[in-house]
Amino acid sequence: MELTRGNEDLERLNQELNDPETLRAYREPLDAYRPSFLPRILGSWLVFCGNLIYGEKPTYLKFRAVEVIARVPYHSWASSAYTLLTLFYSDEGKALKLSNLARYARFAQDNETMHVIVISQLARQEERAGFFRHTLIPMLFAFFYFWWSYVLYLANPRYSYELNYMFENHAFEQYSRFLEENKEALSHKPIESAFLNWYGRHPRTQYEFFQSVRNDEIIHRNSSIHEITPKA
Ligand SMILES: [Fe+2]
Ligand SMILES: [Fe+2]
Repeated sequence: MELTRGNEDLERLNQELNDPETLRAYREPLDAYRPSFLPRILGSWLVFCGNLIYGEKPTYLKFRAVEVIARVPYHSWASSAYTLLTLFYSDEGKALKLSNLARYARFAQDNETMHVIVISQLARQEERAGFFRHTLIPMLFAFFYFWWSYVLYLANPRYSYELNYMFENHAFEQYSRFLEENKEALSHKPIESAFLNWYGRHPRTQYEFFQSVRNDEIIHRNSSIHEITPKA
């Protein structure tokens, strides 16, 4: 998938990925992708800290923390693109590339914002959030992650995309596991959300909602690598 795609294309792809065969074919070619050393270290550290603080098992509150942090790379890429446009505005080819990135980053950022808003509503019904663990720590992580991602992008965009690959891959695995382990219960929980209506997505149950989030994460993961190697 290329970054020039609009939201309608992303929503169509999301729907298609409900089919297990289509999902497998989309996922498998990039499952074995090996990021460079620096993003691998940073990404593994991020996942390790997440598991340490929130546990390895996926839960509503862990997802809430993941989603607070997941928005950040897209925000940082949009900022990096605008920063670079103050230097390269007279190079039309480069400006087009950066504007494409900024456009995609806006779509992805809105998508992650939808995840965090809806999931925090769902989490409120299920689990009690603590201020330090569930609000302050994700906020601090988001702050530092923004600057890593921003600086990495300016230094070498590949590093920033690969770091996001690692984070999104972890998110995808966690949602897949959550769906597998809670299929029955989630299928019986209807979902009502003003924000989802505004976003234009209409799942009937929590299962359908989390399935669509899982699909978003694999699209984010693959898009990061497609940006480095368009044919991958
Ligand atoms: Fe997300
Ligand atoms: Fe994501």
